[in-house]
Formats: sequence, structure tokens, C-alpha cells
Amino acid sequence: MTAIERTGGRLLAISDLHIAHEENRKVLDGLLPDSDDDWLLVAGDVGEFTADVEWALRLLKERFSTVVWTPGNHELWTLRDDPVQLRGEARYRHLVEMCRRIGVITPEDPYPVWTGPGGPVTVAPLFLLYDYSFRPAGLSQREAMEWAHETGVVCTDEFFLHPDPHPSREAWCRARVEETERRLAARTPGIPTVLVNHFPLNAEPTRVLRHPQFAQWCGTELTRDWHLRHDARAVVYGHLHIPRTTWHDGVRFEEVSLGYPREWRRWDRPGSPLRTVLPVRGA
Ligand SMILES: [Fe+2]
Ligand SMILES: [Fe+2]
Repeated sequence: MTAIERTGGRLLAISDLHIAHEENRKVLDGLLPDSDDDWLLVAGDVGEFTADVEWALRLLKERFSTVVWTPGNHELWTLRDDPVQLRGEARYRHLVEMCRRIGVITPEDPYPVWTGPGGPVTVAPLFLLYDYSFRPAGLSQREAMEWAHETGVVCTDEFFLHPDPHPSREAWCRARVEETERRLAARTPGIPTVLVNHFPLNAEPTRVLRHPQFAQWCGTELTRDWHLRHDARAVVYGHLHIPRTTWHDGVRFEEVSLGYPREWRRWDRPGSPLRTVLPVRGA
């Protein structure tokens, strides 16, 4: 890449670094900007242990001028051997405070505006969770959960992602959706958005899951039209570990996950695992 092409930087994204895996830590070590103006969006599932998440985000913040993070489900697990035993909302707030200490932008901070190539866009990191509504039509939430248990496809969140003080994960999701709607409505008008969420904003990307039972842990129908309602130039997400680009109602959805070593070894993707969100190639 020439110096001229680098001018102005790029809005880059990745998710699902899962740095508990040594091979993924090597990938993390190779993540470098092309210019001092590059921003990096990190769409969740950095790791499970708070200290690991801090280590990885600190490393990235030393390299990229701006780092934006939103939590995945794995950051919200409370594992027995993590010295930080906070659960649910308190765990999330603890992670937000850690990010603020190291200068990483979270869903609780003012939304930054990317003014580089392809901008201006308001970059909105979202923490929305899921409410089991991405289940097959005709099944109640209870029936869908029974189906998952009968077939042995149950997300580990059921054991480690606690919703405290909310009565359930779906109640926490609804609270997050309401709060985030208010934040998005109050953003600077006239500037499109890049929405960054760990989970896909609508169920379409989950249709290709090998185990459709898993879709109920992947998002909420409450956000199915947010890419239109909030004027998204692009939607960035992960969680599915199926990295690809899809289009919904003319809006680009970027699944930017790295995934587990056994997964990314299969993808045969030469070059950096960082996805360029903006500028749009060829635009
Ligand atoms: Fe993941
Ligand atoms: Fe995830």
C-alpha cells in the first residue's frame, strides 16, 4: 500500500479474538495499523478473564489511535477461577471502567465520529445481548429451550452469563435495547452510523448456522430494522464465527470474527484478519 493510499486511515474491525487460545494471542500480536489514523472496532469475545481482556485491549490501544469495544457474551461470563467474581451488570460496569482507564471507547461513552475516508459516520458501539427471540417460528421460548437441551446444543451462557440484578437475560436485553434506543435517537442528526454489536441485529445471518438451535442466543427481534431506522452505513458484528459480508435492505453487514483456531485455520483467508469497514473498496 502506498503512502498516498494510507492518508486518512481506515476504519477497521475484528471480533471474537478468544485470546485464551495461544494461537489467537499470536494473531493478536500481528494486528497492526497501516497508519496512525486507523481506528479499530473490537466487537466482543476478546476473552473470559477480565485481566486477559485488559491486556489485549491495552495492547491494541498502544497501536491504534482509537479503539472501540463492545462486550461479547464471553467477557460477561463469571468463571470460578477468575479473581474478578462480579456478575452481570456489575461485571459489565467493571469492564467499562477498565476500558476508560486505558482509553478504550465503550457503549457507555459518547459515540465518536469517524471523519476519515468514507466518513463522516457516527460509530455506535452497542451492548444489546439477546432475548431468545431468534428461535424458529411456531416454537415458544420454553419449547425452543427444550429442543436445545434435547439435542445437546445449549449455549454456555446459560451457566456462566448471569443477568444480575435483572431477573433474566432477556430482561437485561430489553433494558439495554430501550436505553440504547434513547442514545441513538439523541445522536447528531444528519450523520449516518456504523453500528457495532457483538450479536447480529437481525436473524438473517443466523440462517446458515450448522445448529439452528443456537440462534436463540444470537440476538433480538427488537433490533431487526435498526440498520434502517438508525441510518446505518454498515453493521459490524461477530459471535457467529462465520466471517463474511452480507447485505440486508441495501445495508452492508460485516461479520468480523476471528473465531477459534480450529475454525480460522479452515477459512483460507490470506493477509490480515482485520476487516476494512470504511472506506468502501473502489468507492
Ligand atoms: Fe465468539
Ligand atoms: Fe459470542
